[in-house]
Amino acid sequence: MPKLHVVIGSTRPGRLGLPIGEWAARAAKQHGGFDVELVDLAALGLPLLDEPGHPRAGQYTHEHTLRWSAMVDEADAFVFVTPEYNYGPPAALLNALSFLYREWLYKPVGFVSYGGVAAGLRSVQMLKQVATTLKMMPIPEAVAIPFVFKLMDEGGFRADEPLEAAATTMLDELLRWTEALQPLRLNPPPQAPAAPPTPGTPVSRV
Ligand SMILES: Cc1cc2nc3c(=O)[nH]c(=O)nc-3n(C[C@H](O)[C@H](O)[C@H](O)COP(=O)(O)O)c2cc1C
Repeated sequence: MPKLHVVIGSTRPGRLGLPIGEWAARAAKQHGGFDVELVDLAALGLPLLDEPGHPRAGQYTHEHTLRWSAMVDEADAFVFVTPEYNYGPPAALLNALSFLYREWLYKPVGFVSYGGVAAGLRSVQMLKQVATTLKMMPIPEAVAIPFVFKLMDEGGFRADEPLEAAATTMLDELLRWTEALQPLRLNPPPQAPAAPPTPGTPVSRV
């Protein structure tokens, strides 16, 4: 069974990302198509990117990077649970993406976003751009939660029926992409050379 990581992209104390991520993971388990794991970036505690080398070389020097690399490596697909901060993605999620390269390749990603009237969609649009640079496949089917505070109570996040249905549609499609992209994940391109460019040598931008 393919492995799905549901990644909570917000890290601040009291975040809504936690109960929404827990709901998304529950929905994914009920779906039945994936072996599901909830990944909390707050618990992971990555610092701001502190690796000297380009992630394409995969020459990690820190324990936290090796741990994150191993986690992402074992996943076949992702659901990113994200708010929008000032119309963009949370820095923690962008930072976590930037740490790695090869580990993301050819993995599809669905989005659960939330916020006010825009339901976090401006954040998703930016994340899609970043994801495609990492050769991920961001799928259009998504769960977009507008006016998220209306769905919160003492018990946490209460998804309504249209959101539950949207989650099922997204997960169905995510599974199709997960299976379709498997040959590419099994046959990735060769690792980029580790040596940094000589200072002053013109290099093509990556
Ligand atoms: C720094 C910051 C910026 C925000 N910017 C937006 C925004 O651009 N659009 C929006 O709909 N909500 C915005 N909000 C409100 C969030 O939707 C709301 O606080 C949500 O709970 C944030 O997700 P989190 O609780 O998982 O951190 C912002 C909140 C914060 C803390």
